[in-house]
Amino acid sequence: MSLILGLESSCDETAAALVASDRTILSHRLAGQESAHAPYGGVVPEIAARAHVEALTPLIEAALADAGKSLDDVDAIAATAGPGLIGGVMVGLVTAKALALATNKPLVAVNHLEGHALSPRLADPDLAFPYLLLLVSGGHCQLLFVEGVGRYRRLATTIDDAAGEAFDKTAKLLGLGFPGGPAVERAALMGDPAAVPLPRPLLGTAEPHFSFAGLKSAVLRARDAGLHRPEDIAASFQQAVVDCLVDRTRRALGQAHGATALVVAGGVAANKAVRAALESLAYAHDLPFAAPPLWLCTDNGAMIAWAGAERFAAGLIDPLDVPARARWPL
Ligand code: KG4
Ligand code: ZN
Repeated sequence: MSLILGLESSCDETAAALVASDRTILSHRLAGQESAHAPYGGVVPEIAARAHVEALTPLIEAALADAGKSLDDVDAIAATAGPGLIGGVMVGLVTAKALALATNKPLVAVNHLEGHALSPRLADPDLAFPYLLLLVSGGHCQLLFVEGVGRYRRLATTIDDAAGEAFDKTAKLLGLGFPGGPAVERAALMGDPAAVPLPRPLLGTAEPHFSFAGLKSAVLRARDAGLHRPEDIAASFQQAVVDCLVDRTRRALGQAHGATALVVAGGVAANKAVRAALESLAYAHDLPFAAPPLWLCTDNGAMIAWAGAERFAAGLIDPLDVPARARWPL
């Protein structure tokens, strides 16, 4: 059994976790930066990078202490190497490189998307390859056929905004606060999902791609029309997103022959309406459904440590000059 230290710093969460190859999460620590970014209504890259510098080393020490371990006990050091805000990615990756060099342990450079893609396997030991994955986060909205570690076939992506981005922009338009996804979900609980007629972009098209920019513009128009309560707009928006995600995923199932399960991961997978709708879709297609627990959907260190564990077990380690990348398609 091996023990992996995982570091995450690609957006606005600084995180460190210790995860074993038998799926035991020995510790995980996370420092959000919400209050630092809230006045701006979105993540400010420079503020994020500075906050990562301040938070990361104490978090690593705390994660080791929580687990009762020292760096000597660790078998490999994994860190997000991209994609993401480059300043933040560099903080985590350079820290991992320094630790790897100082302790003479292997470095595993993890693609953040791979962290999300493999996170359901950390939570569910029965989830086997291949599976159809809906990866919905703040930066990405993709359908992936996950064939194995490092083997991802992209079936679809968004032609404009990511699903989480649409949640964040809608929250901003409706004055619901930051971060947007959970705020829209809360408001939607008090609204009527059928109150506001909103578009379902690309619904029914042959290729399972996504589009959310038109939906965002429709939310803006609905707000400015002044006819609806924000709660009703939020609920109607969330329903429109759910309808698009379900329709597009249903379409992709036709291209995912041999899939053992339908899986959803990424920050938007923390949304209960999204989870419930995809679970129903899986049920209708006689497929098992998997989604990580809520805390494992949004960015965290455990998913990076786990992806590191899966890569390390496959013999995939990286040289110390591996670059940090702002863009890095899976
Ligand atoms: O995976 P993640 O933490 O970071 C990225 O890799 O992007 O995803 C963050 C995104 C944000 O856009 C956030 O608004 C959204 O996930 N999100 C949600 C919920 N919780 C987080 N969207 C809808 N409902 C939620 N409960
Ligand atoms: Zn993420």
